[in-house]
Formats: sequence, C-alpha cells, structure tokens
Amino acid sequence: MSNTELEKQPAPKEEQDSSSIISEEASFPQATPESAEKTAEESPEKKAEAPDEVSAETSAEAPAMTPTEPTTADVQKNYKYLLAHRRALWKKIARKVIVILSVLLFLAASAFGLMYYIKIEENTLEVTFYHLQSDNVESSFRIVQLSDLHLHEFGERNAELVDWIKRLNPDIIAITGDMNNHFNDDTHVVTELCSQLTEITDVYYVMGNHEWVDYIDRHTSIKKDIVATGVTMLENSYIETTVNGNKVVIGGLVNEVSNFSKYTGPKFMKNFMNADGFRILLVHYPEYFLGLLNQYSIDLAMCGHTHGGIIRIPRLGGLYASDQGFFPELYEGMQTVKGGSVVVVSRGLGGESRIPRINNNPEIVVVDVSWY
Ligand SMILES: [Fe+2]
Repeated sequence: MSNTELEKQPAPKEEQDSSSIISEEASFPQATPESAEKTAEESPEKKAEAPDEVSAETSAEAPAMTPTEPTTADVQKNYKYLLAHRRALWKKIARKVIVILSVLLFLAASAFGLMYYIKIEENTLEVTFYHLQSDNVESSFRIVQLSDLHLHEFGERNAELVDWIKRLNPDIIAITGDMNNHFNDDTHVVTELCSQLTEITDVYYVMGNHEWVDYIDRHTSIKKDIVATGVTMLENSYIETTVNGNKVVIGGLVNEVSNFSKYTGPKFMKNFMNADGFRILLVHYPEYFLGLLNQYSIDLAMCGHTHGGIIRIPRLGGLYASDQGFFPELYEGMQTVKGGSVVVVSRGLGGESRIPRINNNPEIVVVDVSWY
C-alpha cells in the first residue's frame, strides 16, 4: 500500500466521533429574538455572578498556595528569635535605667556632699591674725573682733566660740554688728554671748543694720538688752580709755553710709578725730572707706557686713557683698585705704541669707597692735 492510499483511508470510528463532538461544541447557537430577550433578563444576575465565576476560575487556575503547616523547628526558631529580640530590648531599657539612676545618684551624692561640707564648714571657726605696727602705741595689745554672728551658735551657748576667745587672751573685744537678726526679738543668743565675753575683758559694740533698724524703726529692746550685759555700746560716740598703758580712743559709727550726713555722723567723726590716742573706729559698713571716710586717717577701723563675699571663689575672691554687689572691692582682710586709714574687714561668723557660705569659714579676727 502506497503512502497516498494510506492518506485517503477514512479515520477510525472513534476518531470520527470525537471530531464531530468538537465541531458541535465549537459551533455557536444562532441568536434569535427570544433568546436575546432571555439573555437580557438574565444578564444582571449573570453580571453579578460573574466575579465569583472569575475568581473561582482564577483560584482554580492559580498555582497551588496551600499553607504549609509550620514544623517544630520553625516554631523553635521563631521562639528563639522572639526571645533574643526581647532580651535585646530589655538590655537596652536596663542600660538606660542604669545610666539615669547613676546620674541621679551622682547628683544626690554631690548635693549631699556639698550640704555636708557646708554644714561642717559653717561650724568650723577660723582665726585670722593681723599685726599692725603703729607709732601711736608704746606697748602691744591684742584686739579680738567678732562680727555678723546672725544668731549662729558654736556649741551650746556658743561655748566653743567663747573658749576660742578665752584662749586668744584679748585685751579688748570689738563687736561690729549684726549679731542679731532683723525682726528677731528673742535676743538671748546675743545677750548670753555678750555676758560671757564681758567676763573675759572689756567689750565694745557697734550695731549693724540688723540691730539698728529694729532699734530705730521697731523700738525693740535690743540695745537695752545688750547694754545690760556690761557691753559698752557705741552709737556715734567714742570713749577714751587705757589699754596696756596706751591711750586708746574707741569710737562707733552706727549709721548706714547713705544716712551719714542725715544724723550725727559728721559731728561724731570730727570729735573722734580730735581725740588724743590710738584711734579705733568700729563701723559695720566697710563701704565708708570706698569714699566717704577717705578724708580721715584712722589708726584702725574695724568693719563687717560683707560676710566675706559669701562664696569665695579661688583666684577671683568673694562673690557678693551687700552694698557692693558682685565681686566686691572691700570684703575681707586688712588694708591701708586711700587717706591712710588701716581697715580690717571681718568675714563674720554667720549669715542670714539663704545662700550658704562656701570656702568661707566663720572668722575670728585678731589684731595685734605694737610699736615695732
Ligand atoms: Fe550681716
């Protein structure tokens, strides 16, 4: 049989049937008016059903996405990852908490340390010795100066302070004011101290602004209370006395600088300078020697009021003093000022401001006056 004959032979029956089926399915039905109407009626539903059909077909046709069950290893791996993540987070938080706590602890310790240091310092007395040579004396004598106690107590009834003064063995004691506090009417701290001091030697007192204002404006008994202890109160007045064989004039100028001319200041100064002897002027305010009293040459002027500048900064000195402001000029030490007066400014024994004294121990001033 040739190839041509083979081609002409009819296909097997099964093949014929299948091809006929295919041709029937492939043929589209003819559209009649009835079928068009039917289609139009059914179309909304069909339209609505369409997406479902499409998605069903799509899902049927899409590659198989069946979720696989996680294995035990996967779970363990995820758990470990979660655990490590949590640990890292806690470590981070713990580190921050430790840093914050360390800073707070450091600040608290610093504050506590500073407070402790201030407390220790404000109760640790310091004695400053000065020597003053003068041709107006024939023998030496010692003056102890106290100032600006502001009701502070060094031991019960100021026993420690009194003990120091006894050991210093002064010939006279000079007090330059502000031992009391403004508006304080219970003066027992001051009077108890004065009573003990007068048992040691002669005590001379000039009031500071804290006592003077109460005495003048509120008419308190402060002056009377102090005088009752045996102290000599100097109120724009002076006394002539003898100390170790030397003629000594001790005066007290009580007014504030701004009120010097208003009261008896000029008259007092004139008389004081005319008195004969080694002249000691007690005046609370050192600011007098920044101008007003520079026309006088006083052998020794003793002042307070500045509290040593309150905070003493190394190399820069005192920070602040009333009536002089920041970085005051005349706030501590002994110096010869313009006009020739020798001025000693006590840093004082206490303070009434809320700002604590720092690097500024309470001070007892000792001036040894001699001819050599
Ligand atoms: Fe004071």
